[in-house]
Amino acid sequence: MFTVKVPATTANMGPGFDCIGMALDLYNYITVETIPQGLEIIIKNPQDMQIPTDETNLIYKTIQHFYQLLGKKVPGLRLIQEDHIPCTRGLGSSAACIAAGLLIANYLLNTNYSKEQLAKMGAMIEGHPDNIVPAFLGGMVTAVLEKEELHYVKIPLPKQLSFALMVPDFPLATQEARQVIPKQISLQDGIYNASRTALLIASMMTGNTEHLRVAMKDRFHQPYRIPLVPEMEDIFKKALSIGAKGVFLSGAGPTLIAAIEEDTVFEQKMKPFLQQLSNRWNLTIINPSQQGAEILMN
Ligand code: HSE
Repeated sequence: MFTVKVPATTANMGPGFDCIGMALDLYNYITVETIPQGLEIIIKNPQDMQIPTDETNLIYKTIQHFYQLLGKKVPGLRLIQEDHIPCTRGLGSSAACIAAGLLIANYLLNTNYSKEQLAKMGAMIEGHPDNIVPAFLGGMVTAVLEKEELHYVKIPLPKQLSFALMVPDFPLATQEARQVIPKQISLQDGIYNASRTALLIASMMTGNTEHLRVAMKDRFHQPYRIPLVPEMEDIFKKALSIGAKGVFLSGAGPTLIAAIEEDTVFEQKMKPFLQQLSNRWNLTIINPSQQGAEILMN
């Protein structure tokens, strides 16, 4: 018996659409046991969303995919899933399932693939690497998938930064949120995002947070997703007015994130503001996860 621990991730960090993500100190745990035959999936911490307990379960489907690639048959399995990452909230719950499935299969088959190799397999499954690569490697990561090669660099984060997650009570499916993005962008918007991506990476690497307000802005997806995330603009405005260094939509949304340095002050001022909005927003202040996905022996 063993347990896999996988972190939540935020993707599309600021202007880094489909390429910059960060692992967060919030985890799902999957305990795995081989059994004589069949599949048993036990969900320990059920959320509002129904998680499949049959062969359509994403963790199981990923295990199956790995076994098929190696021409092997999946053994009987009992999976006990303890979820803490909210589903369909833009916090990488699907990437966490894929990362878990790959780690489980790699361990059961004794294939000894490195986390980098597994991250690449995961990126191919997801189609973009900004959730899955930090899910495996931890920290803030910039990642590019080119011609089936994964290129990534881990970006050191300024120690004084933590992240305020504002998670609403309504879900948003990534597929729906992807459909609203135009297929083409203007040169102006390309320059807008490229310049801010450079500023974001340079700011993080030098520990200089004074430009994050500008460096975390985006024109590739956030403006188009505003109608899908009511109150996004008001929350961003408020967060910046009470000292947030920068703000961005987490992944495809609807979770919003503020990069902050003064946790208590931010929390004290933000909570009452969120409480008077029409949707329910849950505020949690969290650090990045430096470790990424791992196997814990029971
Ligand atoms: N980069 C992805 C998107 C993240 O915005 O669609 C969500 O998986």
